[in-house]
Amino acid sequence: MSQVYLNGQYLAIEEASIPVLDRGFIFGDGVYEVIPAYAGKLFRFEEHMRRMENSLKAVRIENPLSAMDWREMLETLIELNGGGNQSIYFQITRGVAARDHVLNVKISPTLFAMSHPLADKTTAEPVAAISCEDIRWQFCNIKAISLLPNIMLRQQAVEQGAYEAILIRDGLVTEGAASNVFIVTDGVIRTPVKNQYLLPGITRDLLLELLQQAGLPHVANDITEQELSNADEIWLTSSTKEIVPVTQLNQQPVGNGQPGPVWHQVCELYQNFKQAQHSV
Ligand code: PDD
Repeated sequence: MSQVYLNGQYLAIEEASIPVLDRGFIFGDGVYEVIPAYAGKLFRFEEHMRRMENSLKAVRIENPLSAMDWREMLETLIELNGGGNQSIYFQITRGVAARDHVLNVKISPTLFAMSHPLADKTTAEPVAAISCEDIRWQFCNIKAISLLPNIMLRQQAVEQGAYEAILIRDGLVTEGAASNVFIVTDGVIRTPVKNQYLLPGITRDLLLELLQQAGLPHVANDITEQELSNADEIWLTSSTKEIVPVTQLNQQPVGNGQPGPVWHQVCELYQNFKQAQHSV
């Protein structure tokens, strides 16, 4: 039975419950993070914490824990769930109050964390993607729990036989519905610049660091829809899926329809980095 954390207590998931007036439930008023743990150790913990703090600040929810308490809580949760590889999800909502858009009473945030087993992948299966209009709001850099547009977009992809929706805003690629996007064009690895239209992905940033260290040609700049369609390789990145090759876009093969040579190269870089981290 999976153990979760809720407002200071560790308990079985079946035992955890929140009041129906929690603003997370009523309004989707909260933020979240997903951190992988390999061999029982949190991966890129500080980076995830920094992004969480930015999200909290942006929506003006108080951080309920100190940095030390965050680490201790998450490490305890990993241990209670048997160590190994896990994906840790947590969310902070504004808390419980009578339903009113405007909040004029002081309330305490609700903090919930849970864990799922995470397969130890050394490679990812290729997937198909569709491109579609980015119908989301103007603050996609905040990791908000209100994910209705993202859910609708991924659902649309799945209903068209694909795995992910790659989003286009004003003719430019932003990101996937639940991932960041990279393309390879003439040997250069490219990803959109960080701005308010995409989540500053931890995996994206790590990959850019690894590319820099390895001296592989890369750039963060605008990617047009046309450039996406003509790319030699397309990849999706996320903390739980790592680097996933897209071999079909809108039912057309990407490159020769197989995971490309640059993808193989960067996967090795990523796996080596992961290995080095959890053997420390
Ligand atoms: N989502 N963009 C969006 C919209 C995402 O939802 C995610 C990840 C990413 C990748 O970010 P990172 O590399 O930090 O995981 C980009 C998580 C995993 C989720 O919602 O489950």
